[in-house]
Amino acid sequence: MTNTLAAALEARGVRWPAPIERLEVVPSTNDLLKEKARAGAPEWSAVVADRQTAGRGRAGHRWVSPAGNLFLSVLVRPAHPAAQVAVLPLAAGLATAEAAAEFSVDARLKWPNDVVVVGRKLAGILVEGLSGAVGIEAAMIGIGVNVGLDPASLPDDLRDRVTSLAAQTGRPVAVADVAAAVLARLRVWYDLLAREGAPRVLAAWRERSVSWWGRPVEVLSGGSVLRGIVQGLDERGALLLDLEDGSRVAVVSGEVSELRLSDAGSRP
Ligand code: BTN
Repeated sequence: MTNTLAAALEARGVRWPAPIERLEVVPSTNDLLKEKARAGAPEWSAVVADRQTAGRGRAGHRWVSPAGNLFLSVLVRPAHPAAQVAVLPLAAGLATAEAAAEFSVDARLKWPNDVVVVGRKLAGILVEGLSGAVGIEAAMIGIGVNVGLDPASLPDDLRDRVTSLAAQTGRPVAVADVAAAVLARLRVWYDLLAREGAPRVLAAWRERSVSWWGRPVEVLSGGSVLRGIVQGLDERGALLLDLEDGSRVAVVSGEVSELRLSDAGSRP
């Protein structure tokens, strides 16, 4: 796909500043990129694979990675990791949702970094840091987008929870075009984050998020369950929740689901 990816980037007027390695099959693009990062690969080095045999998702989940979808990892070396790394998953989700919009798919962002279409997962983001002697020195931004996947081919328990660009549009979509769109938008948002800090990235993220502001949610985080009303994001991209006891917490990681009003009312 590299040649077509290079052509797709060029067609958009994007000159990619670092090598993009394309493989037919790899255990995980994030793992391969991590090795490259350790060996000194420059910022914006990328790995793209036709399929993965050990694709990884967040929270130790497996990311099933058959051919026909996009599996992409991009290396960044943030100058101010403490302030920037937490915002990277949101910037990557935003770039991916914008890429989907180029194919007329209205994807929304679900905190922290799911990309969904009417509740069905279209794409996922896994950002992993690489620590050196002085802290985080690089981050691998892993992006998986369901491009050609036919949800009907999935087991019953997944079928209704997953979608793809092809399923949404009813026509084939070229993986290289999606990769070029994601890379181009990621570059824009990361450069903005590096130049100006998080506020504009967070504002754009919020614009494209599912509309649950002011609504009750449940968050599974670190083995505990929090229920509260979503108030917004803080400057690191943490989710601000107002709990029943009136306190406000900033949740930095977790799985969020919206509570129906009957659920919200049934707590002790
Ligand atoms: C999630 O939603 O759980 C995150 C999924 C991230 C999957 C991508 S595919 C490319 C990269 N390589 C991996 O092993 N995982 C990420």
